[in-house]
Amino acid sequence: MSTGRLEGQNAIVSGGAAGAGGAASEVFAREGAHVAIVDIQVDAGRELADKIGQAGGRAFFVKADVSSAGEVEAAVDTINERFENHIDVLYNHAGTVIIKPFLETTESEWDWLMNVNVKSMFLMTRAVLPSMLNHGSGAIVNTSSISAVAGTPMEVLYCTSKGACHMFTRAIATEYREQGIRCNAVCPGFIRTAHGIRELKELQDYGVNVTEEDICRLQGRICEPEEVANAALFLASKEASFVNGETLFVDNGMLVQT
Ligand SMILES: NC(=O)c1ccc[n+]([C@@H]2O[C@H](COP(=O)([O-])OP(=O)(O)OC[C@H]3O[C@@H](n4cnc5c(N)ncnc54)[C@H](O)[C@@H]3O)[C@@H](O)[C@H]2O)c1
Repeated sequence: MSTGRLEGQNAIVSGGAAGAGGAASEVFAREGAHVAIVDIQVDAGRELADKIGQAGGRAFFVKADVSSAGEVEAAVDTINERFENHIDVLYNHAGTVIIKPFLETTESEWDWLMNVNVKSMFLMTRAVLPSMLNHGSGAIVNTSSISAVAGTPMEVLYCTSKGACHMFTRAIATEYREQGIRCNAVCPGFIRTAHGIRELKELQDYGVNVTEEDICRLQGRICEPEEVANAALFLASKEASFVNGETLFVDNGMLVQT
């Protein structure tokens, strides 16, 4: 008898109401996980949890801005109650982008982007790890980006934040490997989500070469949200039991081209 790849597991998806995080909430639930969707978008989060329930899966929504320590702690307390202090999978996906010439970016934009993209991973992981350590295992997946290693004009702040996601992933994997924790990252190219579509439009407005033709040349076609979700599923699942501290690029070979 075949079972789902996350059968019986309790999973959290931050930024899980929409985009590639929304796809991950659905894919994880379809593979048997009970999913806690954490997001700032209340209506979208609740609707997705209902949709998953109607499809025979299990999911609930918890509102939190993952860049706020107080909101993360309250959300993880609620989730720990629902999951009886047993969390198997944490997918840190929430994040955003600022597109501007570097010299026009402000200190408050720097702080905001680092908080949403990097501090969020620190806060969520710090809140969830004790539950994983209590039962001796856990899989953490972080959403990084091709921008962690490939510089894009108008995205200095974003690229810097994603570089930090790479090292956060490796350092958590190193520190907690002996206690049964795996921590890996997915690093997508351009994805067909609200974030990806806005990014392409704003970059084009600044004259950066990311027209449809450019995207085809770079990565064949735009990436679909489910393709990122499936990569995150692999890293979250026991199939990746010996994969730790890795950064898995989901870019159809964009970065390996000469
Ligand atoms: N779309 C792309 O082309 C692309 C490429 C590489 C990496 N990424 C990464 O994927 C992630 C976002 O991806 P998406 O494309 O699915 O975008 P999206 O904008 O469609 O979805 C992001 C989700 O995160 C939520 N979110 C944003 N800020 C939050 C916060 N402070 N607290 C809680 N939830 C919050 C949003 O409400 C939304 O539901 C980011 O980490 C981004 O850097 C995206």
